Amino acid sequence: MNKIIFFGGKGGVGKTTCSASYAVYSANSGLKTLLVSTDPAHSTSDIFEKAISDEITSIMPNLDAIEISGEKESMIYMNNVRKSLKNIVSPVIVQQINRQIDAAAVSPGSEEAALFDKMIEIITEKTEEYDRIIFDTAPTGHTVRLLSLPELLGAWLETLIEKRQKSVKLMSMALHSGHPDRKDLDNDEVIKILNKRYDKVKLAKKIMMDDRLLSFIFVINAEKLPIDETAKAIAVLEKYNISVDGIIVNKILPENSEDPFWRKKKEQEKIYLNIIEKTFSGKKIFKLPILPEDMKSGNIEDIAKKFDQFK
Ligand SMILES: Nc1ncnc2c1ncn2[C@@H]1O[C@H](COP(=O)(O)OP(=O)(O)OP(=O)(O)O)[C@@H](O)[C@H]1O
Ligand SMILES: [Mg+2]
Repeated sequence: MNKIIFFGGKGGVGKTTCSASYAVYSANSGLKTLLVSTDPAHSTSDIFEKAISDEITSIMPNLDAIEISGEKESMIYMNNVRKSLKNIVSPVIVQQINRQIDAAAVSPGSEEAALFDKMIEIITEKTEEYDRIIFDTAPTGHTVRLLSLPELLGAWLETLIEKRQKSVKLMSMALHSGHPDRKDLDNDEVIKILNKRYDKVKLAKKIMMDDRLLSFIFVINAEKLPIDETAKAIAVLEKYNISVDGIIVNKILPENSEDPFWRKKKEQEKIYLNIIEKTFSGKKIFKLPILPEDMKSGNIEDIAKKFDQFK
């Protein structure tokens, strides 16, 4: 398995359970591991029964965790935008823009962009310190959108940079050489900011498409909807050249139940397992049993041990 691993999948299938147990498995195998929860519901704290914050928190030997939130990162991000704007535009315009910034900070698009930036920051700044970084993500739609951001943002930034370059050129042609508003392309603050952002987006794309660095694992259950949703998500990710390595089929029912209801359920599960084999042929498929109780810190080791067979 690669150094950076994303766990994705439909709501409630077991992404937090699998990413947390896989993180415990990694730590137990002697790898210094960081578990990053990007899910707004933040159930990582619940599983480990330990408060985890946006500061890296130690969970057990070799395992640290952090919970990051798009909402919070967006506020920090927009405050930085506010600071950089102060040097570019006049105080009157800053006041006007500030209101728009406040509105933009809470829009879903900017929360995603800020969350994405934070994820890239963790990947770039923590790869030396950790042998493995595991991401527990929010349900599929959100994650797929998040991972397609660099592609979309990249094209958008290119257009913005071009437009700004054009207007700076026009401005410098119109103003005489000593005029204070006359700037050359290299010194334009807006272009500098846009280029910095563009570099980040390019770096994100490079990381995400590197299949020796990043693995994507989908968690599903042996049911129709998670299979369909995951098949669609894989198609989208592959369009963006993000390769998906494996599928975990979580909550596999016990064999040999006497009860006719559970026997019927088990038969149905077998049909879905066949469909899973066909739909995701070529990918590693790994099955995890359903436990008689909810995932808690007490039984996380039981699931962690099973990952021995999922390399
Ligand atoms: N193998 C398992 N055996 C028993 N219960 C499980 C198992 N896997 C997950 N669960 C339970 O299923 C519920 C959902 O699991 P989990 O929170 O890991 O899913 P999720 O995909 O992260 O959900 P969300 O989309 O809300 O983030 C939890 O109550 C968890 O305890
Ligand atoms: Mg979760």
